[in-house]
Amino acid sequence: MSPLEVHAKSPAGRLLRAAWQPVARSIDLPKAGILALRMLSQDWTLWRSEAGIPVLAEAFCPHRGTRLSLGRVKGERLECHHHGICFDTFGWSNETFSMRSPPLQEQGGLIFAWLGEEEAAALPPIPELQGPVRVLAPESWPCSFYSRIQNSLDIRHVAHAHRRSGLATLLSEGWESKVEEEDSGFVLHLSAGGKELPKIRFVMPNRLEFFTPVSPELGWRKHIVWRVPQDAVHCVSFTVASLPAAEAPAAPLARPFAPSQIAELGEALLEGRLQWEELKTEHLTEVEDYVALCGGPATLWPSEEEPGLAALHARWRGAFPETG
Ligand code: FES
Ligand SMILES: [Fe+2]
Repeated sequence: MSPLEVHAKSPAGRLLRAAWQPVARSIDLPKAGILALRMLSQDWTLWRSEAGIPVLAEAFCPHRGTRLSLGRVKGERLECHHHGICFDTFGWSNETFSMRSPPLQEQGGLIFAWLGEEEAAALPPIPELQGPVRVLAPESWPCSFYSRIQNSLDIRHVAHAHRRSGLATLLSEGWESKVEEEDSGFVLHLSAGGKELPKIRFVMPNRLEFFTPVSPELGWRKHIVWRVPQDAVHCVSFTVASLPAAEAPAAPLARPFAPSQIAELGEALLEGRLQWEELKTEHLTEVEDYVALCGGPATLWPSEEEPGLAALHARWRGAFPETG
């Protein structure tokens, strides 16, 4: 079994199912809306009743296996397209059919699901989710969730993959990183050119908190990011940006898991339809990461080469026993 497998019986899949995972933005699921999802190697239907209750249901109707995302919402029920069997917000029909409907909670503009079989734990408090936030559009990439987590802790790649950035210039003069362990993860402290840089926090199993430069006037803003596997080789990132003040809400997306502009530019570069010199985008850093992570086979990286990666791998080692 690949160590990156995330189905219910895999070690990584079990770890990820023992935590609340974001599965969609609240704004992308209007009343009576339905989304088809793939999360942790399982297909799901996410729908919202006309009263506003979000429901996660299995992808396929238990009657004859039709995709429930092609049905419609009628009041507080989801009606299957094929023969019209209706399911309530607990996954029950009036007849003999029922299905699993994992617990959901909405907070900070995200819908979180508990996909494990065990009883759901409390949603961990994240103070930033109570303040003014902007939930960025989900980013689906064809790479492992673990590659994306590693990338956020991999300082060495910044000087190469992001060599056009101001941070690369700073790091080229030499840098140092230090890990401070916490109960639920660790904090990576970074300094370069005699300056302390914003720290990066990792929280098991798949959450990161870091600061991103916005503009010289606005400075840095804090991002809270979940890298959620859709399966072993696809993941979606959900990012909550904590804002200094309230901003207009982001616009809803009709197809939230479709390839973003970043993915389209990345694919054009990977296929040779676009050259670096022709690339014009305000998401340069993300496109640089996309081509670094999504152009080849999914693998675990040898991770002991710098403190943040070693600390990450130490936390996950139980799920990746064969990698030592
Ligand atoms: S397949 Fe859904 S009602 Fe028959
Ligand atoms: Fe990067």
